[in-house]
Amino acid sequence: MKTSGGSDAMKRRAGESAAEAVTDGDVVGLGTGSTAAHAIRRLGDRVDAGLDIRGVPTSFASRELAAEEGILCLDLPEAVGPDGPGIDLAIDGADQVATGSDGADDPVSGGALIKGGGAAHAREKLVDAAADRFLVVADPSKESPRLDRPVPVEVLPAGRTAVAAAVREAGGEPTLRRAERKDGPVVTDNGNLVLDCEFGEVADPAALSATLSSIPGAVENGLFVGLADEIHVGTESGVRVDEV
Ligand code: A5P
Repeated sequence: MKTSGGSDAMKRRAGESAAEAVTDGDVVGLGTGSTAAHAIRRLGDRVDAGLDIRGVPTSFASRELAAEEGILCLDLPEAVGPDGPGIDLAIDGADQVATGSDGADDPVSGGALIKGGGAAHAREKLVDAAADRFLVVADPSKESPRLDRPVPVEVLPAGRTAVAAAVREAGGEPTLRRAERKDGPVVTDNGNLVLDCEFGEVADPAALSATLSSIPGAVENGLFVGLADEIHVGTESGVRVDEV
């Protein structure tokens, strides 16, 4: 369910641009996916050069990469607990970024995201929402006036058919995400399954997110609305930064 366009060079420019926004002493949410991985690698280089930060990983994969890069990590409960330091900023990718019909400040959907192509959206949403600032890293293939990709919904395994029925009731068409190089479904880092839910163009992402959140057995959906603060888009020649 990942988008396939966008060159690695564009992803790298976006990731490295966001990594430059990190300053000494920051606690940084570490996103998941190939674009966020470029940010983590750049942060690793900066740590080698003396930058003092701690990461809060959003997945098994981002924790593993952070460890390879020598970035010390906190668990989310430690970071945001009563005595925790909080999260200064999070850097994370997206499968689709709504530019809105009138640009990034469209009040209806500009800056809304679809995430979860790597099935990490539940922890990503926790970390990205807890951060003081959330920087999205993307390439131009992710941008669209309106969100229209399938929305990933993480579900409790026992709830998969009930949640699928409720998604159909809400006007969507759910498909259980199948694993590659493993028989059966994708199993998330939390031991759950993923339904990719086709709704066509999402006219009101906040309303759809609320509907999906109200379904018993639906753990989290991949609509991120009102969370992004900046979108760093890597292009052929540089990086464009849009404030949301
Ligand atoms: C992980 O579940 C996703 O939310 C990723 O952040 C998203 O799929 C973007 O990944 P890429 O940067 O690899 O396209």
